[in-house]
Formats: sequence, structure tokens, C-alpha cells
Amino acid sequence: MNAPEATTPHGLLQFLPGLRLPLAALGQYPTPVQHLPGLGDVWAKREDQSSAVYGGNKVRTLETLLAAALAGGRGKVVALGSYGSNHAVAAILHGKRLGLQTDALLFPQPATPVAAENLRVTISHAARVTTLRSIATFPLQAWLRYRRNDSYVMAPGGAVPLGALGHAGAALELAAQVRQGLLPAPAHIVLAAGSTCTSAGLLAGLLLAKHLGLWPGELPRVQAVPVTPWPVTARFRIAGLARRTLAELAARGGPDLSGQDPGMLLVLRGGYLGWGYGRPTRSGIEAAASFMLHGGPPLDTTYANKSGAALLDRRRQLQGPVLYWSTKSSVPLPPDDPEKLANAPAHVRRWLRRCVPG
Ligand SMILES: Cc1ncc(COP(=O)(O)O)c(C=O)c1O
Repeated sequence: MNAPEATTPHGLLQFLPGLRLPLAALGQYPTPVQHLPGLGDVWAKREDQSSAVYGGNKVRTLETLLAAALAGGRGKVVALGSYGSNHAVAAILHGKRLGLQTDALLFPQPATPVAAENLRVTISHAARVTTLRSIATFPLQAWLRYRRNDSYVMAPGGAVPLGALGHAGAALELAAQVRQGLLPAPAHIVLAAGSTCTSAGLLAGLLLAKHLGLWPGELPRVQAVPVTPWPVTARFRIAGLARRTLAELAARGGPDLSGQDPGMLLVLRGGYLGWGYGRPTRSGIEAAASFMLHGGPPLDTTYANKSGAALLDRRRQLQGPVLYWSTKSSVPLPPDDPEKLANAPAHVRRWLRRCVPG
């Protein structure tokens, strides 16, 4: 087990030291900010570098959720998601560091190289993986398997108020970076919305930053780009989770921001999902190439390149600096376990073979 890395204090505890928040130090903060002048007045918040073990946005979600599992005396956690879930990979690799046994219950998604890479890591490193043949049976299977189980079962993407609080901390961290002059105050933050956890947490955190006097001037608009279909990423769900995150903050000893409307800051940027979750789009692939050309973060085909496409499309209409929230881990994955892969169910091995490009 790797010892968790040295880390600077979590944004929330730094500014609200009295908060009753379970927290496992998994990430390396602050994540860097980067100017991408070749793309215009565009900046990137490099959440992809949140940990050298496995980065991306899910690290902040897991810092609170895995700590809650440990505090509740649970030795086992369960990640729910798609075959290529980053949340599952992150839960498995970071859970191990905390001595937690992590299982995954996964449903199929379109066969792509990036999804295959994740599934291979999940199968190789999880304590136990159940790979369903269809998404149709997923809710029932999850209920049947875990209803009387003492495991800590996380919602897909960790999209609950406690998970979203991690991203509220990221908003405070960003406010501090703006105050330090590392980047101009963004007028817009563009990010992929899948389970809605990250967008909702950021909305809550931006309102908190303003309340604490940490944000200079007007708050940015959060331009959430759905990469999962409606109603998963419906406006009411994102704003609703943001409101519940504010309520969780107050219940844990933070300020009462129940009078605030997080929906005011939310702009849903539809039109970049393409034929569905996990299906690559031409505009996404072009966006990844453009980011790479200009020295930006690497973008994957399920999430990050769809938000990248939205940013490139809209940046000229958007007034003021635009901040791209870089959510896909950019650190190398650990090696696969060939024996576990050879013993995977036949339908999974077939799916993995279909993922080979060309
Ligand atoms: C790389 C990446 N980007 C963006 C998202 C979307 O974040 P959220 O599920 O918090 O909406 C995810 C979700 O798994 C992700 O893995």
C-alpha cells in the first residue's frame, strides 16, 4: 500500500477549519493552472494532475467518500458505473492506499480504446468485479447485491452531497489561485457533466467562495457540457445536487447558504454528446488534437474531449477569460494483470477485443 501523498490542506478545511468533514488526503493540491494562449483567453485547471497514483476529478470526490467509509468502520467499498468508469478506477487505486477492499459493479458501454484501458485496470486491481451484460439489469442487480451488505456503496460517479463537497473545496482553491494572480478571474468555467457531481460541487463552492469574501467580483458561469443523456444531466438534477451540497455544508458546521440559488450560475451546453455516452464525436476528436497542438491537457473520447469541443466552439462568443476544467487523469496507469484478464468472463474478453483500434 502506498502511503497517501503529502498534500496541502483541503480547500474547505483551509478556509473553514471547524467543518466536520471526513477527509482522506489522497490528492496533491493545489492542482496547477495553465494558460493556453494558442486557444485565446483560455486557461486550464489541471485536475488531471490531482494525484500521481491516478488523477482526474474523481480524486476529490473520493477523499470524502472513502473517509466516510473508513469512519463508518466499513472495510469494503463498491463503485458502480460503466465498464470504462474513471470513478471505478480511481476508487480501486485510491481505496487500496487506504487499506480498503474495492469491488465494482459495471454495465456495458460503447467499446473504445479509452474504456478498454480502464476496464483492464479495474479487472486487474479490484478485489472483485461484476461485469453485467446489459445496463437494463443494473439497478436491480445493484439493489439485490448490496441491499443487505455491509459494504459502503457509492452512487455512480459519487454523485451525492458529501462527494460534491470535494469539488466545493476545488472552487475555494481556484479562488485562492485567482487572488495569488496565477490566472485572471474566469468569467466562464467549462466542464464535462456526467454524474453531475463535479458541476454541482463547483456551483456550491463558488457561492461559498463569494460568501467568504474570497472571490473578486462577479462569479463565473459554470458551463456544464452533458456527456451522459437527459435526465441524468438535466438542469434540475445539477442545481438540485448543488443545493443539497450547500445543505450538507451547513449541517457539517459551515455557513447557511440555503437562500442562494446555484442554478443562477449554471449554463447547460448541450449538443456535444453525439450518439450517446461513451460514443466518440468528430468535434471531440478535433478538440483533443487542438488541445494537444497548443500544449494543453490530453483529452479522452468519453468526457474531456466533448467539453473541449464545447469550449472551442463557444470561446469567441463568451466574454472574458474561459477556464477549462481538465477532468481526465493524465498520469500513466498501473500495469494489467494478464492472469486476471485471461480469467475474465467471455463476454468481457469479446468486448475488450472489439476495443482495439482499427
Ligand atoms: C474524466 C471525467 N470527466 C468528467 C466526468 C464528469 O464528472 P461528473 O460525473 O462529476 O459529472 C467524469 C465522470 O466520471 C470523468 O470520469
